[in-house]
Amino acid sequence: MFVLGLQGSPRIKGNSAVLLSGFLDEAARLGARTELVNVAKKKITPCQECGTCEKKGFCPIDDEMQELYPLLRQAEMIVMATPIFFYGPTAQMKTVIDRSQALWSRKYVLGLEDPGRKWRQGYLLAVGATRGKNLFEGTILTAKYFFDAVGAQFEGSLEYRKIEHLGDIQTHPTAMQDAAQKARELITPRLSRKKVLFVCTENACRSQMAAAFAQMHGGDRVESFSAGTAPAAEVNPLMVTVMEERKVDMAYRRPVSIENAAINGRPDLVVSMGCEDACPLFPGLPVQQWDLADPAGQPISFMRETRDLIEQRVLDLLKTV
Ligand SMILES: Cc1cc2nc3c(=O)[nH]c(=O)nc-3n(C[C@H](O)[C@H](O)[C@H](O)COP(=O)(O)O)c2cc1C
Repeated sequence: MFVLGLQGSPRIKGNSAVLLSGFLDEAARLGARTELVNVAKKKITPCQECGTCEKKGFCPIDDEMQELYPLLRQAEMIVMATPIFFYGPTAQMKTVIDRSQALWSRKYVLGLEDPGRKWRQGYLLAVGATRGKNLFEGTILTAKYFFDAVGAQFEGSLEYRKIEHLGDIQTHPTAMQDAAQKARELITPRLSRKKVLFVCTENACRSQMAAAFAQMHGGDRVESFSAGTAPAAEVNPLMVTVMEERKVDMAYRRPVSIENAAINGRPDLVVSMGCEDACPLFPGLPVQQWDLADPAGQPISFMRETRDLIEQRVLDLLKTV
């Protein structure tokens, strides 16, 4: 399970950063893969409201936000941590939030569904110096809307008042334990899912579709990944088109090698699409051979047939796990 932490404070070792580390450390201890993005250190330009994302589904600004879009799609849990600055999140965090309009547009303007949307979780950690009743209201509303835009269910928040100076969060009587406890609560049920690795040669078509369908139809029961024995540079554009015909959004997916897929941990099952003998990195694992012909270079009708066949195979597989 991949947990992405977004740290919005510009202060080094600030209160929200410490709280987020407490959450992520516990997630990692439990066995999740974690990544922390220090948003304030990234060069991310505010949204220019150019309207490109509403027409084309992507943001044309070429900056470090482009590295964040794929991470937001890969994450199964996104934890947003921010101090309160004038009753809202920091400007740095708000910049990321506004740029997620590209993902909002893919869903709400172009009508495409990210396969991970149904199961992805979003959680907010927030701290503020004062004790006002409404201190976190604006940030919670913004976080809810952000999580919806990036395709995550808002699972709630931990908020702490009267946290101002460096180190205040560590001396709070419960905050660090609360963060670890919340990580355990949210992550533990997900860790018992079976890990399924779909493999083909280029990881550009068949294995990508299989992993996406498995995520879409069974993300509560399986953790699905895909990889290639000789990964291509990009996913197959015709595959993206036929998936979009079914409203499935394959944006931000890249072919990866089996070595790179291994960062997600040892799979319980390997499903080979049919063009390689076995998965060399995981000897001794059960392997299913699906023997599906490679649709690369074939007419779109063949790509559609392959898509439908893969979806059916995935649905059959999900009945057995
Ligand atoms: C520009 C700025 C604006 C702030 N606005 C608020 C605010 O509206 N309400 C509040 O309670 N604290 C406010 N604070 C205080 C911070 O939320 C508080 O010091 C917090 O602990 C900082 O967290 P950090 O260490 O993670 O950066 C503000 C601080 C700064 C620097």
